[in-house]
Amino acid sequence: MALLDIKNLSLYIETANGVVKALDKISFVLNEGEIKALVGESGSGKTLVVKAIIGALPDYWQIKADRLTYKGQDLINMSYEQRRQIMRRDIAVVFQEPTSSLDPSVKLGDQIEESIPPEFINKGWFWERNKQRKDIAIGLLHKVGIRNHKKWMNCFPHEIPSNVSQKIMIAMALASEPSVLIADDSTRSMESTTKTQVLRLLVKLNKTKNLSILFVSHDLLSITSIANSMTVLYCGQTVESGKVRSLLKRPLHPYTKALLDSAPSFQISLPSKSPLKALKGTIPSLQNLPTGCRLGPRCPNARKECVVAPPMRNIQDHQYACHYPLHFPSHKKHATNEMVLKSAPEEIAGKKDIYD
Ligand SMILES: Nc1ncnc2c1ncn2[C@@H]1O[C@H](COP(=O)(O)OP(=O)(O)OP(=O)(O)O)[C@@H](O)[C@H]1O
Ligand code: SF4
Ligand SMILES: [Mg+2]
Repeated sequence: MALLDIKNLSLYIETANGVVKALDKISFVLNEGEIKALVGESGSGKTLVVKAIIGALPDYWQIKADRLTYKGQDLINMSYEQRRQIMRRDIAVVFQEPTSSLDPSVKLGDQIEESIPPEFINKGWFWERNKQRKDIAIGLLHKVGIRNHKKWMNCFPHEIPSNVSQKIMIAMALASEPSVLIADDSTRSMESTTKTQVLRLLVKLNKTKNLSILFVSHDLLSITSIANSMTVLYCGQTVESGKVRSLLKRPLHPYTKALLDSAPSFQISLPSKSPLKALKGTIPSLQNLPTGCRLGPRCPNARKECVVAPPMRNIQDHQYACHYPLHFPSHKKHATNEMVLKSAPEEIAGKKDIYD
């Protein structure tokens, strides 16, 4: 079942230089029990997508979508109260800067207790309710791997290391027993041991609690170690989407290939001290977008047809937006969807197992 279903999400934001289209027809689905990754370099629009889902964008920014639903309920057109209710109970978010998301003036124990919905506390005398709240908070800390709860519950946010604050953010996010956890670059700048702990924790929660996770990151190694499927964003657009195994094995979009090539761990035969591959240039600013395909000026495969924006094409469960997808015979490229499917190599068209 689709929990989050996003189709053609566009966002127009006001900047000093006028209105710009920061998100352009982003589409993806997060299914129940799935870990879905949203990947893209800095400035590709990942956090804007998260904010659009949770309704944290300024009112004066215009948001348009054919579909933006949670369990079939339209998030854009529902009342403020309904949406708040969904965000309070069903969808939890951990942002990329844990320390700035915590209140600096309140002790951590009190912040965790405050995040527990009142309906989880049974009626009774106030000291009984306080005890219940404290027990639940301690249980949440244990769940995220913090055993020494006494040490941290009396601390203020500035007194704790970043790995602990990230785990505390996850504990607070889990307090309402949500169906969906959105982790927005929550492992950014973590050292590898802590990152592994947090990734393991997410996988464990996914397996044991059937928690669906939207894992937003630009760290391909983390993504491939935990996610089932991924959607690649570039400059506010979806460029490729599909199962992680399939995108790793046979990326169709030059940008996805460039992302994989730039990660040393995916280059098996990389000789020592050899330079890492990287796309030339940088992501364009939203005020100066190129005509046609947004990757055009940086794309090694660009041709004159690329001045027309490529449509999103679909082969089996694999979507891509490129006139010249990789792994296709060159004379068959730039064709209609039917022609592309007909001319696709057998393993891409699904006639043969891609992992043979
Ligand atoms: N409040 C804002 N006002 C103007 N532009 C914004 C605002 N927030 C984001 N943007 C622009 O929208 C684009 C996407 O930003 P976003 O924060 O979603 O990127 P991101 O993919 O999350 O990057 P990162 O990996 O660095 O977190 C960027 O070009 C950014 O400059
Ligand atoms: S459409 Fe053209 S420029 Fe864009 S990614 Fe494909 S080949 Fe490159
Ligand atoms: Mg971000």
